[in-house]
Amino acid sequence: MISEKMEKALNEQIAMEGHSSFVYLSIASWCDKEGLDGCNQFFRRQADEERFHMLKIFDYLSEVDGFAKVPAIEQVPHEYNSIQEIFKLTLEQERKVTSSINDLVRLSLDENDYTTKNFLEWYVAEQHEEETLFKSVL
Ligand code: FEO
Repeated sequence: MISEKMEKALNEQIAMEGHSSFVYLSIASWCDKEGLDGCNQFFRRQADEERFHMLKIFDYLSEVDGFAKVPAIEQVPHEYNSIQEIFKLTLEQERKVTSSINDLVRLSLDENDYTTKNFLEWYVAEQHEEETLFKSVL
């Protein structure tokens, strides 16, 4: 059984991962329009990964008798100036996600919720991998 506080925070993370997925899908579309085929494929894969991150929390909440909520779709940007700008923006986005995951880990410890802490460790490793990937592209 998960605490209400932890459930709410994980639902906020669901929204953040869903938003990331749509941002990357929008970037993929911009890359496609600009003829950047490799970048288009790269961001399509990232969009799928973020959707997977979102659904993984969905499934976890179900396992611990929580209630996963489908987030509202926020408008995402459609226009960019360059691929360099995109990779700077997406690295910043990933850093925000990392910070949010770190906050969740802290909350899980405050709540004595070691099951959720254990679940979140996958995200800690994933964020390290993604930040490293985006930095290496830049
Ligand atoms: Fe799932 Fe890269 O944030």
